[in-house]
Amino acid sequence: MTTTDTLPQPPRRVPVPANGAGQGPTADPYRWHVIGAFAVMIATLPLILAFMVFGHPKPPPPPWSVQAAALGVEPREIALGETTYLAACALCHGRNGEGIPRLGKPLRNSAFVQGVSDGELLDLLVNGRFPTDPANTSGTLMPARGAQGIDDARLASVVTYLRAIQDPKAPTVSVEAWNTKSLDASNGGEAFAAAGGPGYELFVASCSACHGARGEGMEGLGKPLKGSEFVRSKSDGELVAFTKTGRPVWDADNTTGIDMPPKGGNPALTDEQIAEIVAFIRTILQ
Ligand code: HEC
Ligand code: HEC
Repeated sequence: MTTTDTLPQPPRRVPVPANGAGQGPTADPYRWHVIGAFAVMIATLPLILAFMVFGHPKPPPPPWSVQAAALGVEPREIALGETTYLAACALCHGRNGEGIPRLGKPLRNSAFVQGVSDGELLDLLVNGRFPTDPANTSGTLMPARGAQGIDDARLASVVTYLRAIQDPKAPTVSVEAWNTKSLDASNGGEAFAAAGGPGYELFVASCSACHGARGEGMEGLGKPLKGSEFVRSKSDGELVAFTKTGRPVWDADNTTGIDMPPKGGNPALTDEQIAEIVAFIRTILQ
């Protein structure tokens, strides 16, 4: 028995070839790949750079830029007018100026808008158009300053926006559906129109969206106030109190399953203003 048989053996060394292949850089079997890759990079780099500089997709033009160029104004002026319009006018005239029957007339591709000067248009927005105005054909109030006290500068931007939604190539829209005044004259519409006044304006702004421009009620929204037994049976003070609290769907007195929101959903209404609305409902809607 020899000692080498039992002692642990040192690990075997991998023999190194005599010419050193696989060790030095000159011996790298991938060197042609590396050189090739470099060559490709150097050849294509200018192309990649050129693409980055010139081949970038153009950013989309800012909204309203086409209309702004045609009108000779800044796009942001039209955008400001649009924001104001959506907040103050869309409620009655529609989000796209398409008009809402019984409320605001169409303003997109409107013969009226196209036929008046900027000054005349601003004048109308500042002063509104009462139902007593001969130009009013609907018997419905166009409130002064959007019923929100909008200042002249903002109204001027709305005028610019109204200009931007006119397409001279498109036909102007019909306002036939808004020519209802003569129809109303036969059923007391004239007295209604002549009433005007703050109560009427407030009613149109806060209540007519559900109760109809003449309190005739709207299917699925508000009950008719015209001829309402409930209104007739209550005192002015009770009607003011009722308007302040509304009549939620869970109220035992609710008959429609639809909410009458407190103050018609306009928390800014003061007690005095509600009293004016009630006075208006009394004189006209009974
Ligand atoms: C409470 C509803 C209401 C609001 C809010 C309102 N309008 Fe009106 N507007 C009307 C009604 C109703 C008429 C139509 C009156 C009539 O019969 O001539 C009208 C008419 C107009 C007209 C004349 C159109 C035509 O063909 O004669 C213009 C322009 C107009 N409104 C612009 C605006 C702008 C801009 C705003 C926002 C600043 C605004 N209105 C806010 C109800 C409203
Ligand atoms: C969002 C819709 C809406 C608005 C806005 C609204 N109402 Fe109403 N209103 C209703 C509904 C719905 C009822 C009926 C509730 C029920 O009894 O089922 C109602 C009922 C009423 C009644 C009771 C009528 C009856 O015969 O029982 C009065 C009065 C009234 N509203 C006044 C107003 C006044 C004033 C305003 C404005 C300040 C206003 N409403 C705004 C939806 C509305």
